[in-house]
Amino acid sequence: MKTDLFHNPQRFGDMQTWRQDVLALHRAGPIHRIEPEGFRPFWAVIGHPELLEVERDPKRYTNGPVPVLASDIALKTRTEQGGEIRTLIHMDAPDHLKYRRLTNDWFRPSSIRQMQPRIDELSQQAVTKFEQAGGELDFNIDIAIPYPLHIILSVMGLPEEDYPRMLQLTQQLFGASDPDLQREGTSPEETAAIIHDFNRYFSELTAQRRQCPSDDLASFIANGQIDGQTMPDLETLGYYIIIATAGHDTTAAAMSQGIECLAQNPDQLRQLQQQPELIPDAVEEIIRISSPVKHFMRKAQEDGEIGGQQIAQGDWLMISFAAANLDPRVFKNPLAFDFTRENLSRHVAFGSGVHFCLGAPLARMELCSLFSHLIPRLASLELAGEPTTSKSTFVSGHKSLPVRYQLT
Ligand code: HEM
Repeated sequence: MKTDLFHNPQRFGDMQTWRQDVLALHRAGPIHRIEPEGFRPFWAVIGHPELLEVERDPKRYTNGPVPVLASDIALKTRTEQGGEIRTLIHMDAPDHLKYRRLTNDWFRPSSIRQMQPRIDELSQQAVTKFEQAGGELDFNIDIAIPYPLHIILSVMGLPEEDYPRMLQLTQQLFGASDPDLQREGTSPEETAAIIHDFNRYFSELTAQRRQCPSDDLASFIANGQIDGQTMPDLETLGYYIIIATAGHDTTAAAMSQGIECLAQNPDQLRQLQQQPELIPDAVEEIIRISSPVKHFMRKAQEDGEIGGQQIAQGDWLMISFAAANLDPRVFKNPLAFDFTRENLSRHVAFGSGVHFCLGAPLARMELCSLFSHLIPRLASLELAGEPTTSKSTFVSGHKSLPVRYQLT
């Protein structure tokens, strides 16, 4: 099929059109063979039940060796120039479970509950920023980007002066195809260089935390044992990278999308002010609509069948969380922002199965806290300019979201 919806980063710069086009594609079927120039052909799995079918069978559909869509040139450059990376998302059984067990308990709802006061404090600071800005600010830049970054890096125990560097590296890694987020003169070599940068930073951190361990997550990873041995360097680095990066651009994208939805739907803002107990439902709907992680890839290890299509051993499949969250067979009127829909929790924005997002409880907690602090104070909220969106096929969301508001 000829569509550039999944591999052309430019398409993610206009999500309204992207969503409409995906909805049209749903009418043509739940899975489509895409053969783009410069990429290995792949199946785009866009149907909600079909995506879950792939996720439920991690033995047949593995994450390794390449879990994110990359062009032929990018793959070649990465192989030739190093920049190798191995995180939880690159792993399959039996390693995946061993490595995931290491930090699973850290991110359980019962463990992160102790972070609630810190999270509420940051939400209160966000309200204070609204008060100080005096009626207009860029929600994405001023609030959404710094907030989750602050949380995840403080859980890791990194010093605050390093936060800007982490932010820049993450945005470059996730938004490698967006010209505004790239370094100057960037090319596929740059992605490898970004990974080298992370490598340098975290190698120093590991050495330091092995020498003087504290009770932070960075020390826990540095001293983590797999099969009774210290974790190898590649996997230690991969652990830092996934925790440090997966936790903030994603949550920031959902926060900004939520504010845009509320600015465009003042009746729903009023409803949440009258019924704040619905804020957790609104958060689920915001996560569904924003689907900050657009896809991951899987590789078929055996012949099989998905959505009536024959999948051959060795085929590459894209599981598109963002598209499956618009499946009209599951979500009635899927383009509408409607937190009263019956099946809010069926969204797949956090994935499913063995790789289900480790940070989902933390992300939900941050979003609920921010909206619970902000929503009661918003006497009015509207867009103060055209929002812009990052052009990435992998993790994308707003780059800027200017808003005008009055507070009570
Ligand atoms: C709204 C925010 C977030 C969204 C939409 C999101 C989405 C996702 C998705 C779709 C996956 C892959 C699931 C699959 O393959 O089935 C994932 C994995 C992961 N996420 Fe998140 N995430 C978010 C926030 C976070 C946060 C706050 C953290 C904090 C540490 C985090 C850490 C991870 C990790 C470590 C994995 C890999 C899990 C594995 O492979 O076992 N994420 N996330």
